[in-house]
Amino acid sequence: MCGIVGYVGKKQSVEVLLEALSRLEYRGYDSAGVAVLNGKGVEIRRKAGKLQGLMESIHKKPVNGHIGIGHTRWATHGEPSERNSHPHTSESGSIAIVHNGIIENYAELKEKLLAKGYKFKSQTDTEIVVHLIAEHAKKLSIEEAFRKTLTQLRGSYAICLVSKDEPDRLYAARFGSPLLVGIGKGEGFFASDAPAILGLTREVMYLNDGDFVVLTASDVKVSTVAGKAVKRKITSIDWDLSAARKDGYDHYMLKEIHEQPAAIEQTLFNRLDLDKNEITFDAKTKKFLNNLSKQERVIIISCGTAYHAGLVGEYMLEEYAHMPVDVDLASEFRYRGPMLDKNTTIIAITQSGETADTLAGIRMAKKHGSKVLAICNVMGSSIAREADAVIYTHAGPEIAVASTKAYTAQVTALILLTLYLTKQRKLVTATKWKSLLKGLHELPKTVEKALATEADVKTLSAKYASLRNFYYLGRRYNFPSALEGALKLKEVCPLIHAEGYAAGEMKHGPISLIHMGWPVVFVATDSPVYEKVVSNIQEVRARRGECIVVASEGNEEIRKNVDSLIHVPKTEELFSPIVVAVPLQFFAYYVACANQCDVDQPPNLAKSVTVE
Ligand code: F6R
Repeated sequence: MCGIVGYVGKKQSVEVLLEALSRLEYRGYDSAGVAVLNGKGVEIRRKAGKLQGLMESIHKKPVNGHIGIGHTRWATHGEPSERNSHPHTSESGSIAIVHNGIIENYAELKEKLLAKGYKFKSQTDTEIVVHLIAEHAKKLSIEEAFRKTLTQLRGSYAICLVSKDEPDRLYAARFGSPLLVGIGKGEGFFASDAPAILGLTREVMYLNDGDFVVLTASDVKVSTVAGKAVKRKITSIDWDLSAARKDGYDHYMLKEIHEQPAAIEQTLFNRLDLDKNEITFDAKTKKFLNNLSKQERVIIISCGTAYHAGLVGEYMLEEYAHMPVDVDLASEFRYRGPMLDKNTTIIAITQSGETADTLAGIRMAKKHGSKVLAICNVMGSSIAREADAVIYTHAGPEIAVASTKAYTAQVTALILLTLYLTKQRKLVTATKWKSLLKGLHELPKTVEKALATEADVKTLSAKYASLRNFYYLGRRYNFPSALEGALKLKEVCPLIHAEGYAAGEMKHGPISLIHMGWPVVFVATDSPVYEKVVSNIQEVRARRGECIVVASEGNEEIRKNVDSLIHVPKTEELFSPIVVAVPLQFFAYYVACANQCDVDQPPNLAKSVTVE
């Protein structure tokens, strides 16, 4: 989604801003811009389209100055165009702001500004903010005018401001959209996301909702909007810059698919202890889990791919830990008035930790006295900070818009959680426990073997790349795999429509579309319902559909029922969604490449969805 950066220091700010913005490109955006104090005033440069266009125009006509702000925009109010790109300026041009989020009462505020004679150059909600600041600044200092404006806004925001009249400082505020401060030697940064400033500094200060910041090259002052000073911890980013680069791969998505064994290893690290024959968590998480009541009800909330991980979690928590689990799309959960109480635990699954619906869902649940456990990838993110306990996936930065390694790491975290609770509730025999731990320990290697499907899947993708509609079918633990496989394909290859269904559901409707050559991807790995899946394959073949089947290694019998076959390593059923995900990710990736799609930044999509 939109990205924000800010810089104050001794360097040419435009160079820092463009470098930082380029690191936020993965979030998805449709236009970009910067505002720099050039010694005379605020100089604005904006361009619709990719950042490269903005870079080229700045290269032709440089902008000089040591303080500035920058933005990549993902359109919400108004089409992607130069005039709607950020930064937006006051009428005099002396104040510029960049904004992430949505101002919900912008129409009402705009009416008032129009009545006062303000003229609007863009269709954005952001422009009202800069005019309001300018209006208040007629009587107040910039800082006070900014604070007063914030009290009038409803919705979500991270805003950075630069003003000609205050040439040594930047201002920023956050409410509902992520923002952090980077602290360097004699320089300071703002960024909506830590990778933006990786390589520039490692010291960051994550801001809370309601924080207001004054940043100079030598100082950071954080306060509430009302002006009460608050302290925020400085933490050190432990990610490596190389983790945010492509390392020779054509796309981040491909790199991240290949990183899955390492990501899973990281998720298991310090939690799976084969020597002690146990699964453990940090003290806070253990305390949280040990305090769950026998009657505890679990609601998993999440969005998109993380929702699919949640669905896998439902199968395992119910089967192994005997806990009643519901899985909700966070965007539905927050508005359907769910029954919540202190015996309900919410598990919020999220890569970014910033997804607006998931964040709103946990806030609502906490108000009703429910407890919140987050499964999250980004340390210090809003959801991680607001949850009562966190299981970090430690998958490393995920740059491609389409989630791959974060998904399999989320499922791994759910396995750890399930097995911990299963043991705690004495629901597993010693022999089964041993074999589960062994399988879990081998999971990174098993996924490594699944990566060996790449060449075959690539060949297969070439065969099917010209088709425009796909079904994905699976059952039990691999029903979510079908949903995830279909989501991956339509996400990275927007020319294709793909739909996932529970295989048993097909005859209740979707089968009506099956005709000669219609491609159906089946997940038919070993499971108690394997034969039922084979029956579903027969139903498609009877209508001359094209069956692309993912089956367990060693299953040669199935060859007679398929048009294309992908073998994946054998595993316990609860590990299978992780192994199955790999060829489905490759399939989506290579079909998209064959169709020349922008794999890492598909149109209309954003990495971190910080608006409703
Ligand atoms: C799909 C994808 C999205 C995210 C969803 C939730 O590949 O990336 O569907 O899974 O937007 O995001 P997080 O996990 O950051 O809450």
